[in-house]
Formats: sequence, C-alpha cells, structure tokens
Amino acid sequence: MASNPLILSNSSFISPIDISIAPFTSSALYFPLCTVVAFASWVILYHGQMRAQAKKCQVEGPFRWPVVGAYFEAKRNLWRVHDWNLRYFRQSKTILIDFGLFVNVLTVDPKNVEYILSTNFSNYPKGRKFHERFSDWLGNGIFNVDGELWKRHRKVASYEFSARKLRDFSCNVFREDALKLASILDLAASQQEVNCQDLFMRMALDSICKVGFGVNLNCCSPSLPAIPFGIAFDSANEHTIIRQVSLFWKMMRFWDIGSEKHMRKNLENLDSFTYSIIQNRKAEIGTSVDCGEDYVKEDLLSRFMTYRNEDDEGYSDKDLRDAIMNFMIAGRDTIAVTLSWFIYSICENPSVPESIRAELNDVLGDTQSLSYDKFASLLTYYSLSKMNYLHAAISETLRLYPAVPKDTKIAVNDDVLPDGIIIKKGYSVSYVPYSMGRMKFLWGSDACEFRPERWLKNGIFQPESPFKFTAFQAGPRICLGKDSAYLQMKITAALLMRFFTFSLVPGQTIRYKLMSVLSMQNGIKVQVTRR
Ligand code: HEM
Ligand SMILES: *[C@@H]1O[C@H](CO)[C@@H](O)[C@H](O)[C@H]1NC(C)=O
Repeated sequence: MASNPLILSNSSFISPIDISIAPFTSSALYFPLCTVVAFASWVILYHGQMRAQAKKCQVEGPFRWPVVGAYFEAKRNLWRVHDWNLRYFRQSKTILIDFGLFVNVLTVDPKNVEYILSTNFSNYPKGRKFHERFSDWLGNGIFNVDGELWKRHRKVASYEFSARKLRDFSCNVFREDALKLASILDLAASQQEVNCQDLFMRMALDSICKVGFGVNLNCCSPSLPAIPFGIAFDSANEHTIIRQVSLFWKMMRFWDIGSEKHMRKNLENLDSFTYSIIQNRKAEIGTSVDCGEDYVKEDLLSRFMTYRNEDDEGYSDKDLRDAIMNFMIAGRDTIAVTLSWFIYSICENPSVPESIRAELNDVLGDTQSLSYDKFASLLTYYSLSKMNYLHAAISETLRLYPAVPKDTKIAVNDDVLPDGIIIKKGYSVSYVPYSMGRMKFLWGSDACEFRPERWLKNGIFQPESPFKFTAFQAGPRICLGKDSAYLQMKITAALLMRFFTFSLVPGQTIRYKLMSVLSMQNGIKVQVTRR
C-alpha cells in the first residue's frame, strides 16, 4: 500500500460530527458520541475488508478511504493528474483508484492493453456515461458511439484516409497551410515572440476544414483573425470535462445555470457554424445535379452526404453535424498539441533539429537557395516516406507527450485481466499512454529522455507494437487518421526546421492543461530566427 498522504484531510472529514456544534447537555452528547463510535467501528471493518480485497487482487494504488476512496487525493492532484498516476505506476503496472462513487483500474502493461483494446474488445466499449456527457457536443459521431453505429461510421470514414487520397489531395492542403504558417513566422522572426500552440491550432483547423469539409476558413492569414468557432469549440471541450467531475451538471443543464449556461451558448455557436457548412454543401450538390454533372468533391462531408445504406437511408443533418464535430476534435487538437510538444522538445534538445536538417539534405539535396514555395514542393508523399529520422522525432514526441494521454473504457461484464486483476462490471478501465512512455520496463533506463535514435536501426525506422506505443490507440478502434497525421506533422516540421531556429522565451512554465487532449496550459512562447 502506498504511503498515506491523506492524513490531514481526514481530520476535516470527520468535522461534521464535531461535538462543538452540539449543546453541552449529557443527553445531547450521547447522540454524537454514538455516531462517532459507530462510524469508527465501521471504518475499521470496511477498511479491513478493502485491504483484504486489494491484497487478494494484488492491486496497488492510492490509499482507499472509507466511502470517499481516494477522491480527495485525486482532487488535490487533478492539475497534475498524469504525473500523479505515474507515481503509482512506478510501484505496479496496474493500479486501482477508488473515487468513492466509481472505481477506475489503470494499466501500463501491454498484455492488458492488448486484451482490453483487442482480445476482449466487446467487453470494453466507451460506455453510457461517457456518451451521455459528450453527447451534447459530439452527438452520435464516431468518437461517441459503440456497436453497429460505430461500425457504420468507421466504414464510411475509412475511405477518406486511403493512401491515394493522402497522396493526391491532403498532401497539397497540408503544404499550403504549412506555408501560410511559415509566412507568419517569417514576419515575426527576430522581432516578436510567438505562441506556437495558437498558430498550430489555426493551421490544423484550416487543414481539417479543407480536407474534411471542403471549406476554407483562412484562420492562418497574417492578420490572425479571431476564430469564434475555435473558442466555442475549446470551451465546449472544457465544459465537458467539468461534467466528468460535477455531480449536478444535469440539474444545471435543466435550469440553464453556471457552466451549463456557457455550454449551451457554445453549442449554439457551434451548431450555427456547422449547419451553415452543411447547407452550403447541399446547395453545391444541388447545382451540379441540375447541370447533369456527377458530384465529384471528395471530402469527408460529401462522402457522408452521399452515403446510402441497404434501405436507401442516408445521414440526417444532425448526423452530419455530429460527423463534422467529431472530425474537428480528431484532426485539429491532436495535431496542434503534438506539434507544440515537438517544438518544446527540439528547443530542449538542440541536436535534434540539426539531425533533421542533415536528413533533409540527404533526401532532398542542397536546398540552400530555394524559396519557401520551392522547398515545400519537394516535400512529397514519396520524399517524406524516406525521412526516417524525422518520423522518429515525431514518434518520440508522441511517446513522451501523447495527444490523448489517457483513454478510458467501461467493463460491460465481470472479467479478469491477463495479469490476474479482477474487473467488476461497471469499472472504468484505462490504458495510459502518458505513463507508458515513461516506463523503464518498456523503454529502458533512458525512458524519460527525448532520443529519436531509439526508433532507428541502421537508419531505418522500426515501428513498435501499438500495444506498447499506444498514442494512436490500438485494435479495431485504432486512430483512423494516423498516416494523415504523420504526413501533416512531417511536412510542417520539415518546413519549419529548414527555415527557422526556435528558442523558448525564458521564464515561462510549460505544462499540460486538464483536458481530454494534452494541450499546454499557456501554450508555448518562442523566439524565431530565420536561418
Ligand atoms: C497526433 C495526431 C493524432 C493522435 C495522437 C491521435 C490519437 C487517436 C486516439 C488515441 C484515438 C482513440 C480515441 C478513442 O477511441 O477514445 C483516435 C481515434 C480517431 N482518430 Fe486520431 N489521432 C491523431 C490525429 C488524427 C487525425 C488528423 C484524424 C483525422 C483527421 C484522426 C481521426 C481519428 C478518428 C476518426 C478516430 C476514431 C476512430 C474510431 O473510434 O474508430 N486522428 N485517434
Ligand atoms: C471477455 O469478457 C467476458 C465478460 O464479458 C468473459 O466472460 C470472457 O471470458 C472474456 N473473453 C475472453 C476472450 O477472454
């Protein structure tokens, strides 16, 4: 059992039956006294039972107090939750956190991860609770459903990520948008500091809207326009997280008060934006049909719009809205936060950008005299596939800073994990990429160091098992956008490394924020110099 940091909170825990609130008569003392005695004996009994149970299952984890479990310890550590979990994983590959109202089993053991995500996939869906909290925002989109509906979404969406589409279409979009970002950095170079995370968010939003929905938002224009949609989107994300820890969110939603009032306003903004995208696209399809043409746009939205099942039913407008929302979270935040952590990592490890530049020279030849545009045109699907070191540097970023740091499923039935841990129906079961990347038993004694070379053998990138390197999940629900994501991040990183050097603005604290993605609390401020 872990040391017990909760001793202090315990005294406040019993304060409600502090006798000072009772009048000082002997009969009035009787009741509180009895309560204390009853409470104390129950504590001892309950505790003994818990201990025995934990011992039997050999599960480590934070100390479990009666009734409240580790709730207060968890609450105190919420702001650094991933490192709090990590501390317990240093004692055991699977841990149990008892939140009082529910129990969460977390694991970094690849055997367990494979079992949850693949072998016994059907016993570990996202579950109803998750669906409920996310459904106002993500609706019945691919992220937020299980079973048949998920299967159908997955099938329709998977065409979108074919190698052909990436090579012939997405690659051009990623190049265009990376060039826009470069021109903003060019203006700022040597003059003002820039917040990379904000810029990457803009770039990634532009790209996903073009690739996914055929819409050009132009967030990455030099005037850096305000993006009400982006703000409403982030706010909806944060308010959804508040729902995870709030007991009364449904009541607050009903009365339209507090955080739920903000949530409603955000959702209205998001809806008006997405429904207008849908109406525009419908109008376009209508026009081309009138002209007797086949409608040819190849974006994801068009694909969902023209989909018909066996009974000739298509997707409703609400379904399309949900699809847009889901691809937005899939394709914007993940890319932007990973690129931000990449910039952080290369600032902290200056030999890495040098090695990337050396590889660019090897693969592309001398590019010293080329303009931004000319250089970008050399970054093709094919040339990028030969950049093993760059691929390794991005993978190394995701190993230490996985965009989805922890991912949780719900057990449908009682089960036993391969390492013997007993799972009860209704337990949350999580695999934890953030901790996995830091485990010595998986990566060796330098697990916490940023070292792209660990991925290379004779200069060739060696993929790891997805059950060990879990940044993209694994099994039937493995990330659909993985190749697309590497493509975009490699194009962007190559362009930026070729033309700029980065250094961190001193005096800032870089840390993660409590969100479903590992975004940076205050972004990352850098000084940029033109090379
Ligand atoms: C660094 C980049 C990315 C990372 C680390 C990442 C990671 C992940 C993870 C962990 C999941 C599983 C989430 C869950 O089921 O709880 C996931 C699912 C998914 N990702 Fe990505 N992703 C990235 C980029 C993208 C991009 C760019 C797209 C598409 C534009 C995308 C599309 C999807 C989709 C559609 C799913 C749902 C798959 C399903 O449930 O069957 N991802 N991703
Ligand atoms: C999967 O989980 C179920 C509980 O729903 C359990 O009965 C079954 O034995 C497990 N299947 C495998 C392949 O271990």
